[in-house]
Amino acid sequence: MHNIVLFASGKGSNASAILDYFNGNPDIAISLIVSNNRDAGVLQLAEANNIPYLVINRKKFYETHEYLDIIREYNPSLIVLAGFMWMVPKYLVENYPGKIVNIHPALLPKFGGKGMYGMHVHEAVIMNEETETGITIHYVNEHYDEGEVIEQQRCEVSPDDNAQMVADKVHAIEHFWYPRVIERLLVTGI
Ligand code: GRF
Repeated sequence: MHNIVLFASGKGSNASAILDYFNGNPDIAISLIVSNNRDAGVLQLAEANNIPYLVINRKKFYETHEYLDIIREYNPSLIVLAGFMWMVPKYLVENYPGKIVNIHPALLPKFGGKGMYGMHVHEAVIMNEETETGITIHYVNEHYDEGEVIEQQRCEVSPDDNAQMVADKVHAIEHFWYPRVIERLLVTGI
């Protein structure tokens, strides 16, 4: 049995796609959802799907190992970040080496790093007159968006696209690929 612990801060459309994909799978389950935001849509998803959730506090997250002890109880094979806005603390990276993954809504190393999240990314893609963008699924280390790349998928940016249109295209490929790459990592390890 593979358990996934999912971290998210926002709407949770990726979390939702992941839950749908693994729904009914006898070998893979989302065992815990963690959020820094009490109002995050992802917590409603947790409630609707009867998944335990944890709302974390910044000071405790960075200054204690309290949450590590809780996460350990859920025995994750993989920790999946899906729009989680806080930096993952060193102790978590060290306790789960090669087991924390993130998705970024652009083709890293382009449009990554601090401040590059959500619509900021897609606006930068438009400003830069890119002809393509996409997604990057990568391992997490202690630096924003710098861990080893696991998978990239691309989509076209047309000259008439605005940032919202790019965001919609990117979300569609995220929702398709993220659950499938998670499954591949769990089943084959690569
Ligand atoms: C996604 O675009 C993901 O790439 C990024 O944050 C966004 C989260 O969106 N890391 P949602 O909450 O899954 O809708």
